[in-house]
Amino acid sequence: MFSSLVKNLKSAREKGFRACVRFGVEKFDPYLNYPIGRLEFLLQVARNEPYFGHFCAAGQGVAAGVHNQLRKQIREANMRRLVFQGCSLPAGNARIVEVGSWAGWSAIVWAKALVDCQQKTGEVVCVDPWVNYLDLTANHTPVYRAMAAATKRDAIVRLFYHNVRAAGHAATVHPFRGSSDRCLPLLRDTTFHLAFIDGDHSYEAVKRDLQNAGRLVAEGGLLCGDDLELQFEDLDEAKLRENLHCDYPFDPKTNQHYHVGVTLAVWEYFGRRVSAWDGLWAMRKVGNSWQPVNLPPA
Ligand SMILES: C[S@@+](CC[C@H](N)C(=O)[O-])C[C@H]1O[C@@H](n2cnc3c(N)ncnc32)[C@H](O)[C@@H]1O
Repeated sequence: MFSSLVKNLKSAREKGFRACVRFGVEKFDPYLNYPIGRLEFLLQVARNEPYFGHFCAAGQGVAAGVHNQLRKQIREANMRRLVFQGCSLPAGNARIVEVGSWAGWSAIVWAKALVDCQQKTGEVVCVDPWVNYLDLTANHTPVYRAMAAATKRDAIVRLFYHNVRAAGHAATVHPFRGSSDRCLPLLRDTTFHLAFIDGDHSYEAVKRDLQNAGRLVAEGGLLCGDDLELQFEDLDEAKLRENLHCDYPFDPKTNQHYHVGVTLAVWEYFGRRVSAWDGLWAMRKVGNSWQPVNLPPA
C-alpha cells in the first residue's frame, strides 16, 4: 500500500504540478464523498460541457485519464483508427453497437469518429441497463463503491444524457436501456460495422456478449472491446482460474492487475491471441473467421 502510494506519487511528480493535484484528488475524493468532483460536475453542467471527472465515477477506467491524460489520448486515437478501418462506408451510414456506456465517454468518441470519416447518417447504439452490477464484497476499491453509488436515483444515466447532448451527438447516439443479454438478441444480424464490448466484465457475461455481438458484425466489420490488459498466453492458467470470482485481480507473474473474465472469455471465443493496444482489442470478420487487425500508425 505504502510503496504503491510512493510509486504513484513519483509518477505524478514526473508529470508536473497539475498531475500531482489530480493525484491527490483521486486518492482522497472517494473518502470525502466527492465534494471537489461534485463542484466540478456542477460547473461543467452549468457551462453545458461534458463531464468525465470523479463524481459518479464518470471517468472510470481509462476514460478517467485522471492522472494519465496521455494514456487517454492514445486510447481515443486507437478507437478512432478502428472506426476508420471498419466504418468508412461509401454510403456514409455505418453503424456501431456498444455494450456498456456508463457516462458516455466511449460513445462520444465513436460518434465523433463517425462524423470525421464522413458517416453522415451513421449511428451509435448504446446498450446499458445503468443499474448496479458490481459485487462490492469481491471488489473493494473506491471506484467500485463510487460506481455503485452513481446508479442510485439514475444519476449516471442522467449524466450520460447530459454528456452526449453537451458533446453535440444526441442525434447519432441512441441509448437502448437494458442488459446486453436482453437487448442484443433484438438487433438484426450482420447490420453493424463495429461492435464494442465494455459491459459486465465477469467471465460468463463477456462470453455471452461476444457470442451475441459477434453475430451482429457485418462482413469486414470489427468486433472489439476494452480491458484486455493481459492475454491468456501471458498468464498461469491455474492462477487465472483461481481468480475468476474477482473483477480485477493482481497477477504476480506479470506484476499487474487485469480483468480476468475478459482474458478468459476472449481467449475461448477466438481461440488465439487477438490484436490489442493497451487493453483495447479488436478482430475483423472475414467470412466465417476472425482475423487480426493492423492499425496504421497515428
Ligand atoms: C466499464 S463501464 C463502460 C465504460 C464506457 N464504455 C466508456 O469507456 O466510457 C461498464 C458499463 O457496463 C454496463 N453494464 C453492466 N452490466 C451490463 C449488461 N449486462 N449489459 C450491458 N451493459 C452492462 C455498466 O452499467 C457500465 O456502464
